[in-house]
Amino acid sequence: MAEKDFIVTPWEVVGDVDYTELVKRFGTQEIDEALLARIKKHAPLHYMLRRKIFFSHRDLDWVLGEYEKGNKFFLYTGRGPSDDTHLGHLVPWIFTKYLQDSFGSKLYFQMTDDEKFLFKEKLSREETHSLAYENALDVIALGFDSKKTMIFADTDVIDFLYPHALEVAKKVTFSTAKAVFGFTNETNIGGIFFTSIQSVPAFIESIKQKKPVPCLIPHAIDQDPHFRITRDVAPKIGFPKPSSIHCKFLPSLKGSGKMSSSGSPDSMIYTTDSPEEVERKIMSAFTGGRDTIEEQKRLGGRPEICPIFSYYTFLFETDDEKLKEIEQQCRSGKLMCGEDKARLCERVKKFLAEHQKNREAARKQLSKFMAKKI
Ligand code: TYM
Repeated sequence: MAEKDFIVTPWEVVGDVDYTELVKRFGTQEIDEALLARIKKHAPLHYMLRRKIFFSHRDLDWVLGEYEKGNKFFLYTGRGPSDDTHLGHLVPWIFTKYLQDSFGSKLYFQMTDDEKFLFKEKLSREETHSLAYENALDVIALGFDSKKTMIFADTDVIDFLYPHALEVAKKVTFSTAKAVFGFTNETNIGGIFFTSIQSVPAFIESIKQKKPVPCLIPHAIDQDPHFRITRDVAPKIGFPKPSSIHCKFLPSLKGSGKMSSSGSPDSMIYTTDSPEEVERKIMSAFTGGRDTIEEQKRLGGRPEICPIFSYYTFLFETDDEKLKEIEQQCRSGKLMCGEDKARLCERVKKFLAEHQKNREAARKQLSKFMAKKI
């Protein structure tokens, strides 16, 4: 890999991602001003749209057109339960809640315990299944509407998923799977089949209502390869192509790449972290600061490469004016990294105290959200 190059697949993000280049590589569309104006007709623009954190899509205009004609879309998103939830995962889920609230959409939330069993050498089926339920607590804690939300672990509802996954699998060749995901002869055969299971929830409402129902999938752009396949297969098996909307990655606290469950545990903050862990991780994070205080004052910091600034942008400063102020203070050299980190620590600790309380309360709500049958 050349020094400036990067890799984005559903299982790996390496290097500094150039999102303009990625849109070209994946063949998605950037969300432009016209599309933002169109969303604004229906809902106040979420800060993640205003800041282009959600920046790319496939056929979002089509799904909005259908909505405008009275043909409501449903939402579909998910999680691969390989570990505790980290703050990066919350980015698409917070946005999904905004879409549910704004458009009154039903949500199907897939927990791919099968995927994580197949792709993670060390995890047993029991562990990924139990993590699906632990991760679901984080979803519920964000306040989704239980009447409109169904969360399911694949192995609990496989009787529903499997016949439709077979329909998908029959239309995907090994050569396509290799080209899209980079599989090799060493990939286990379950992994090669898995994408068919991730396709099915995009069709759930069409299957249930026995007519084409539009689907919108919010996710970070690493999952796009799966849905490229789903969209290719959908019309061949009688379903509409799902639309999707993609976000960028909350970066690793260590500097480059996405915040990832396969990275070092100190490169990310889990929703279950204690205040001490949050403090240790943030205070030892990489920043866009200079080597000395003198240089920082003279040259200013570099928010564009700073994960601390990304944390404010993605999650911890939702007021645009205040965010601009932080950026200016940093660039002008008035703000030192230690001070900036200490302020972020307080915000993250406060957020997590509340989230952890809601997460515990969610245990009692699990049975309302977790389906054993679709
Ligand atoms: P998983 O568990 O890797 O990630 C869950 C969701 O979080 C997004 N994501 C991030 N977003 C922002 N910053 C980050 N650092 C970051 N890391 C991960 C992912 O894109 C995803 O939206 N196979 C999937 C589970 C799945 C799914 C879906 C995801 C099944 N069906 C439909 C999205 C949509 C997975 O392992 O996600």
